[in-house]
Amino acid sequence: LAAVLAVTLGQALRQQNETAKRELEEYIADKKAEINPRYRPHYHISPPVGWMNDPNGFSYYKGKFHLFYQFYPYDSVWGPMHWGHVSSSNLIDWEHLPTALIPETEMCFSGGAVVHGDDLVLLYTGRVTTDTDPFYNETQYLAFSNDGVNFRKYEGNPVLSYVPDNSADFRDPKIWKFKDHWYVVIGSSSNKQGRVLLYRSGDLFNWEFLSVLGESDGDMGYMWECPDLFELGGKTIFLWSPQGLEPKGDRYKNTYQTGYYIGELDYETFEFKTDKYFQELDYGHDFYATQTIQGDGKTYLIGWFNMWEVPHLEEEDGWAGTTTLVRELQLIGTRITMNPLEGIQDLRTDSVHNGDLEPQQAIEFGPTAEIILQGCLDQKIELLIQGKEGGLVTTVTWDPEVGKVIVNRSGEVRQVEWVPIGKTSWRLFLDASSLELFCGEGEVVFSSRIFSDGDWVVKNSSPQTLSVEAYRLRRSVPA
Ligand code: FRU
Repeated sequence: LAAVLAVTLGQALRQQNETAKRELEEYIADKKAEINPRYRPHYHISPPVGWMNDPNGFSYYKGKFHLFYQFYPYDSVWGPMHWGHVSSSNLIDWEHLPTALIPETEMCFSGGAVVHGDDLVLLYTGRVTTDTDPFYNETQYLAFSNDGVNFRKYEGNPVLSYVPDNSADFRDPKIWKFKDHWYVVIGSSSNKQGRVLLYRSGDLFNWEFLSVLGESDGDMGYMWECPDLFELGGKTIFLWSPQGLEPKGDRYKNTYQTGYYIGELDYETFEFKTDKYFQELDYGHDFYATQTIQGDGKTYLIGWFNMWEVPHLEEEDGWAGTTTLVRELQLIGTRITMNPLEGIQDLRTDSVHNGDLEPQQAIEFGPTAEIILQGCLDQKIELLIQGKEGGLVTTVTWDPEVGKVIVNRSGEVRQVEWVPIGKTSWRLFLDASSLELFCGEGEVVFSSRIFSDGDWVVKNSSPQTLSVEAYRLRRSVPA
């Protein structure tokens, strides 16, 4: 009888979940019509309605790339987390799919995905709120799909709850396979110091704790979110998003950071050997909580193109949050470079400038643009970016006196020293509310959300003539 009851209860819960998902899709379809399109990205991923934060579960399954994201459909601010879902065959054009996970007793926090047999498997953090301190409990949950669209949570969840010292922060699993085991790194915090824990499993269901792979020794923050570990250029990259770094000169100006150590993972001792030289991956105002995927000898990365605890101007329009372009990573010396994919060129619809751009001369675009600037670094370079109808101004500057690239978003400055490791050109991408700047070989990159009124106008505000190639890009949001 107990077995029969369990089966019936299981069926009833599944049915409830199916109904909730159907109602959610109907809600999204209706609500979409109310969104103000002015800041909506044309070629970056954003939620159909409501709020997005971290990208999750970057994976390749049955011929398509899949990406999930932290999603709250019912408001344009953070709320009980769902997993939104998009897929793509080229990492550039994305299609929205039905919401993959909806919260039940647990909020569906960040995590990863792997392919196992015929299934796409999601491993995510279930956060359950409690009445006692700590006011939450974080453990790891599984969900399965055999069509890449419909996901079924494992009935025996959670599958991983052991934390060596019972700390409550235990989230954002990144899972990968090495030889015949699954491995996972999970972000955590112990005595207000961030750290990352390593586990392994032979079957995805039973997990063994292996080691503390890295931890703050006092000045690397109180919590380490969204850890990742992957091979690049013969080294192991330990990439994560630490919270609580104190600003130091030009560094660590955002609420939280994302950066990496280079080292080596020893699969016998489960030790990560590194000189602990922390480098930020991106110097812009809005870059956090990255996901990577590897295949065919390539490594791709995507980040959340926003920041915590800052104003999100699109919120009043019924949505919030976007992702960066997918970038290809390389390790050149001791630096990870990031570059847009080759296929991004296919977004160009028409060339609007090619050749000299005199001081004070401006180029008019639509809501999207790609600009290639040949660098003459002896003199000052400056582009002033604003909307045709005014609004906030952003400048992008190379100052040869200090040797820095500077992105000044209406007074909020982010800057970094730049010593080109190869070519000296710049490549800029503008979408309706974003700027991505790739310098040189991609060794210096800025991702910043920028907002202005009307289509983009970009002016040469430096004293020298610049050599500029400029394009309008495809637009997908109705004007
Ligand atoms: C990072 C993060 C994760 C967490 C998720 C919750 O931005 O705080 O640590 O899983 O967002 O939405």
